[in-house]
Amino acid sequence: MARILTGIQSTNIPHLGNILGAILPAITQSQNHAHQSLFFIADLHSLTSIKDAGAIHRHTLSVAATWLAFGLNPENTWFYRQSRVPQVTELAWYLNCFTPYPMLANAHSFKDKSNRLSDVNAGLFTYPVLMAADILLYDANWVPVGKDQIQHLEITADIARSVNHRLQQDVFTIPEALINDHHALIPGTDGQKMSKSYQNYINIFLPEKELRQVINQQIITDSSLLQDTKDPNSNVICQLIELVAGTARANYTRQKLLQGGYGWGHAKTDLLQAILEIYAEPRQRYNYYMNQTTELETLLQKGEARAMAYAQLKLQQLRQALGYNG
Ligand code: ADP
Ligand code: TRP
Repeated sequence: MARILTGIQSTNIPHLGNILGAILPAITQSQNHAHQSLFFIADLHSLTSIKDAGAIHRHTLSVAATWLAFGLNPENTWFYRQSRVPQVTELAWYLNCFTPYPMLANAHSFKDKSNRLSDVNAGLFTYPVLMAADILLYDANWVPVGKDQIQHLEITADIARSVNHRLQQDVFTIPEALINDHHALIPGTDGQKMSKSYQNYINIFLPEKELRQVINQQIITDSSLLQDTKDPNSNVICQLIELVAGTARANYTRQKLLQGGYGWGHAKTDLLQAILEIYAEPRQRYNYYMNQTTELETLLQKGEARAMAYAQLKLQQLRQALGYNG
């Protein structure tokens, strides 16, 4: 049975880009019963950027609640927190010792982050190795990720091949990235890639009033008058309606704008309504889980027990091959 694995860092409440680009495609995959799915919260990776216990804890719960809100079924999915299966950090050490330094020094993501951030720590540098450990520990075959993560998957496959070759046995399964092209890059309110780093993201779980404010204030429109005809492509409103609610609904707003007599405020309200309607149930479920953290905790612990049993066996096999057992 093929194994599908993916993780989301707990650095914030997941935004629309994370949901459409990563969470929903992974959940769709998990509904294929020919696969075993493993979805986890990469809360150790978050420590590369967040050093605040309260924030790590809150964001971890919020990522877990988002997965469940969008339909993750914890009965057929291994759903766990990375930090609760500490075998992954032992594996990361072994993998570090098989990883050529230049491969990490040349990673785009590290170069980009080390230019942008003030806290350039060694964890940020070895980030791809911990990610490789996440994947190789569970023999994942397929890893659904956004385009920005392709290089990390290539690094993972390289490390796996190198270990197998050096140890002269197939310890690790070679994984492949699974890219969802349709939703590969969800634009943010400014038209650039939606990202928490650019302050252009939409948190769909906000209460209606705050969500309206984000849409009204963050999406910049031209100063044409109500009666003027408008170019629906001059900002991101219709594109976002299409991504959330489909082409027919986006075309309705496009037509109205092209005819004139329809203000940008109306179009923004169409976007707000699309989000509120399409995500009515996930919004409700998200709030439910954020208020039922004991239930969330129980679900995660069940997944963690399953993940840990597998991780222990895998590590045993590797320790043996490395000369640490017996
Ligand atoms: P951010 O860019 O906000 O920091 P992350 O790097 O934590 O987001 O991304 C988590 C997951 O969501 C990754 O699989 C990433 O590829 C995906 N993702 C993030 N932003 C987008 C986007 N704008 N469009 C599509 N997928 C995205
Ligand atoms: N680096 C990924 C991101 O920022 C998160 C992640 C950590 C991950 N470990 C993983 C994704 C393993 C897939 C598989 O999006």
